[in-house]
Amino acid sequence: MTLDPADKPGADGFSLDDVRREGLMASPGTEPVAHDGTGRVELAFTVEDATGAAPARRTVRVPPGVTVFDSASWNGIAIDSTCGGHGTCHKCKVRVEGSTPISRHDVRTFSREQLDDGWRLACLVQATRDLAVDVPPLTTRPKAATVGVGRQVILRPAVQKRYVELDEPNLADQRPDLARLLEAIDDLAPKPDLHALRRLPHVLRAADYKVTAVIVDESLVDVEPGDTTDQRYAIAYDLGTTTVVATLLDVALGTPVAVASMLNKQQPYGGDVITRISATMMDPETLPRLQQAASATLVELAEQVCREGGVDPKQVYEVAVAGNATMTALVLGIDPEPLGVAPFVMSTSQPPTVLAADVGLELHPRAQVFFFPALGAYVGGDIVAGMLATGMDRDKRVRLFIDVGTNCELVISDGDRILSTAAPAGPAFEGGAIKCGMRAADGAIEVIRLHAKLDPPSAEEVAQSTPPSVEEVAQQPSRDPNPVELGVIGDVEPRGLCGSGLVDAVAELVRVGLLDASGRFIPEDQAPTVAPALADRLTKIGEERVFVLHRPHPEAAPEDCVVLSQRDVRELQFAKAAISTGWTLLLEELGLEHRDVQQVLMAGSFGSYISPAAAVRIGLVPKLPVLRIVSAGNVAGEGAKMALLSVRERAGAEALLQEVTYVELSDRPDFNDRFVDQLGF
Ligand code: FES
Repeated sequence: MTLDPADKPGADGFSLDDVRREGLMASPGTEPVAHDGTGRVELAFTVEDATGAAPARRTVRVPPGVTVFDSASWNGIAIDSTCGGHGTCHKCKVRVEGSTPISRHDVRTFSREQLDDGWRLACLVQATRDLAVDVPPLTTRPKAATVGVGRQVILRPAVQKRYVELDEPNLADQRPDLARLLEAIDDLAPKPDLHALRRLPHVLRAADYKVTAVIVDESLVDVEPGDTTDQRYAIAYDLGTTTVVATLLDVALGTPVAVASMLNKQQPYGGDVITRISATMMDPETLPRLQQAASATLVELAEQVCREGGVDPKQVYEVAVAGNATMTALVLGIDPEPLGVAPFVMSTSQPPTVLAADVGLELHPRAQVFFFPALGAYVGGDIVAGMLATGMDRDKRVRLFIDVGTNCELVISDGDRILSTAAPAGPAFEGGAIKCGMRAADGAIEVIRLHAKLDPPSAEEVAQSTPPSVEEVAQQPSRDPNPVELGVIGDVEPRGLCGSGLVDAVAELVRVGLLDASGRFIPEDQAPTVAPALADRLTKIGEERVFVLHRPHPEAAPEDCVVLSQRDVRELQFAKAAISTGWTLLLEELGLEHRDVQQVLMAGSFGSYISPAAAVRIGLVPKLPVLRIVSAGNVAGEGAKMALLSVRERAGAEALLQEVTYVELSDRPDFNDRFVDQLGF
């Protein structure tokens, strides 16, 4: 049997207790398995179907260290659970191929034969290598669901259904239809809306007085014939500036039914919020067009998830949208101009709940849309949703939340106070302003490993039987004749560099010494000594110095290669300095130092995919052991799911407006000096 990881000492001389997180890694015996924080791991899920239909197969890529349970959950794959990933419900059973550490909870859950066969609890298996995972069909009807970053949510959705069998009226019992229905519902006292009242007389009689009352919040919104209590759905949207993700949720079970994402149809109007706001300022016709584009995105995704989930859109009774302040304003058709010019004012921090039809969605006619509130023009509802998903207000440790993007949002909590701010990082992380930059799509280089030397392994190394440490892995010479190892999305010919690839490239060039601490490529004549296997890749295009990451063929000119230019390095330096100045100043506001940070949560579609090791190396995050840097995934989407699964969590999101202090940093007199201090590596 493999040793219980709890028996091993922590890496890098720090206590594993330091990194144990409530929910995320809470249980004794489930400490993080050592990994070097680089690259990606691939999880191939085979999801069995309770009806006996052919199993579904999905392959997902996540940063190392994410649990199998979270990897599945982020990608809409439901695994049984009622404990919130604490290793106590023993329900999240999966079969993992190959040897995987066995935790003490596994020993209590599975027989010896099952353990040998690869059965493990999914919330306790960290993906530190590629894995094939079999997921059995769901068996439980949970009272709680695991969503967010290891958060457990007691299921209490706003959408409730009650099946009732009523006595037929007669001359001795002439109670009105509504009174007859409401008296049969003993635990709720909803107020009827007109839609429900219009349907009530006919549905009652057509269904032989056996009906299901549909209640959302405190309103009776519909009456359905027969027992439809199992059919309760909602859609959670992460309405991003670049990408929009929709998750269709079964709110009765707390599980995702289908997930879909697509580029925001507002893209032709500009890649970032400022360009889109400017577009509305220059042409009054643009605002309705942007609203229509956002609406069309939501509609297409709703159709897709309902189709994939085999769900009638009319049984989707609620929607939650987590978007930044500009995206929220645009989808509601509210003029965003004040958000784009000083003093950056929102029309409201708490948008009203509207009917789904008001944003173009054809769901249940009374379906409502909840919009997350915003803390400021640049710390919007997506960040409030992220705070909810990560439980930023429920943890006593010092935690730093970073959502990396064109506008980077930062939140820090010391257990008592929560501060937030925004840092304008520019488009570098989205591949903008980067010579070979591109979105994280097929052909984008996302992982880079450089080998300065290509020495064959020594006899001593061959004889070495213990696994190398994180630092040793980083310094190892390549066993591959190619000194530049690339991880490319889609495993196709590299076409460019996405945000995480850019961070990896710079971090690796700093590590091997081809970039100096000021971010300059070292002189060409020094390269053969510093990194002999890579020296010929340091070249020029015109007057600009570049490093060749990928040559389509050995004789390719630098112009035809995927390269990292000196200017690209500068772009990244500015972006990372904006971010690190932000968290440095927030830490100072709380009277804390870098080393006090116990956990860094890297969130968002860019942040989650930046390698923790590279983020530490370039100073994007505080210099901490990589195991304290956690990829948190699409936390905005997770927060939106929570709001649909629990009215208490939704109220918690609204309460965050009072708990979090927004700190404006750009008007500090020392901001520029501090920014310059952060430019180096
Ligand atoms: S043991 Fe409950 S989710 Fe894993």
